[in-house]
Amino acid sequence: MFLNTLSGRFLVLTILFVMLAEVFIFVPSIARFRQDYMANHLERAQIASLALLADDVIEPDLEYELLKNAGVFNVVLRRDEIRQLALSSEMPAPVSDTFDLRDPPAGTLIMDALARLLNGEDEVIRVIGHPVQDAGLLIEVTMPTAPLREAMLDYGIRILALSALISAVTATLLFFSVRQLMVKPIKGVVSAMKSYAAAPEDTRRIIEPSASVRELGEAESALKSMQTELTSMLRQRERLASLGSAVAKVSHDLRNILTTTQLFADRIEASEDPVVARMAPKLMNSISRAVNLCERTLAFGKAEEPPPALTLVALSSVVQDVIEAESLAVEGSDLSFSADVPVGLMVRADSEQLYRVLSNLARNARQALVATNGVGEIRISAGEDDASWWIRVSDTGPGLPARAQQHLFTPFQGGVSKGGAGLGLAIAAELIRGHGGSLSLGETGPEGTTFVITLPKAVIDNEQAAE
Ligand SMILES: Nc1ncnc2c1ncn2[C@@H]1O[C@H](COP(=O)(O)OP(=O)(O)OP(=O)(O)O)[C@@H](O)[C@H]1O
Ligand SMILES: [Mg+2]
Repeated sequence: MFLNTLSGRFLVLTILFVMLAEVFIFVPSIARFRQDYMANHLERAQIASLALLADDVIEPDLEYELLKNAGVFNVVLRRDEIRQLALSSEMPAPVSDTFDLRDPPAGTLIMDALARLLNGEDEVIRVIGHPVQDAGLLIEVTMPTAPLREAMLDYGIRILALSALISAVTATLLFFSVRQLMVKPIKGVVSAMKSYAAAPEDTRRIIEPSASVRELGEAESALKSMQTELTSMLRQRERLASLGSAVAKVSHDLRNILTTTQLFADRIEASEDPVVARMAPKLMNSISRAVNLCERTLAFGKAEEPPPALTLVALSSVVQDVIEAESLAVEGSDLSFSADVPVGLMVRADSEQLYRVLSNLARNARQALVATNGVGEIRISAGEDDASWWIRVSDTGPGLPARAQQHLFTPFQGGVSKGGAGLGLAIAAELIRGHGGSLSLGETGPEGTTFVITLPKAVIDNEQAAE
């Protein structure tokens, strides 16, 4: 609303204050006006009475004319102890009040003036004063109040109209000055703040102090240093966040590599060489400490993977590597791995990342099978159609637990296996998304679970994509 704006309030307040100031001026000036009015009539009456100086007796018609012109009913002018001049005409009513203009106190003048304004009755009053130019000792007239009151009202209205005009002009001038000097710069600061809030990491949006009003300029400078600090803190936080998530991902896969190493080390423990056999437990300890460290680190954040270095990769060799590493863990059990990848099938992928994805999926399947009864098969198959390559990782296992299904691909949420961080599927899905492809759950149930990876064949031309 208009009244809630800074300039609106200034406008209203200015009008109020100017009006208030005018009231303080109005009251004494209306009292002054009344005093002048009466003094003026005394003077006119005095002049009229001078006619008697020429002639001791004057015609009643002339007397009436003189009094009418002076605006009074009677005049008594005492010139000295003895001589006294008097003109008189008929009064419409008896005298109701007497006012003495010789040295009246200011308060009385004001009170009398206000009383006259409020009293609308036409009365006859007596006014006493000093004659002008020392032409006597005292002059006394009787006069009607109606013309006096009318003149006072007329004067009052003129003063009020003038005050209204002055306050309107002042308020308008002030309104525009406030707008120009304060509202505009404040709006500038507010919009600078909004723009900064929309993208606080963008240093171009930090405010440049420009206000000429000192207080506003100081506010702008304070805001600038706050924004600068905030932006650098945000940047630092971003860097720390990505560092943290990178560490989390590295830890995750490092742990997987280390567990594979643990399997090799297990074998070394059985060596007949006494030196090797003695060192093996120490090696085992070191590895489990490293695994523990990785696991603790995994409690932190999620990470941005570097973009994949896409090349044409022989899929079967990657699959073979995965199967070899995973088979080590299940050697001697009833778990088997198989691959059904067309010979010579080349896919466009980052071989390292693809290896990580496949080994995450195979490892999940192995863990699920081992956790149920240790019997089953894990199969990696692949193929292609016109638009994409697909790779399926399936098992004959127990199926995904409900919790894992609800939070599939959400970091730290879907893991239900003991010791699992719940990151594997999330990382795998992110890596595949980085390839422009997708990782999805094919099917799951007591008969087994299948995850499907699709990788697009189309190569995106960035310049075309931008068009
Ligand atoms: N093939 C599968 N069969 C049955 N359950 C599975 C299968 N794959 C994944 N899961 C379930 O999904 C959950 C989430 O898997 P995910 O790989 O994301 O985490 P994790 O294996 O628990 O931990 P980690 O981060 O070490 O991989 C697993 O805990 C497991 O319960
Ligand atoms: Mg896993």
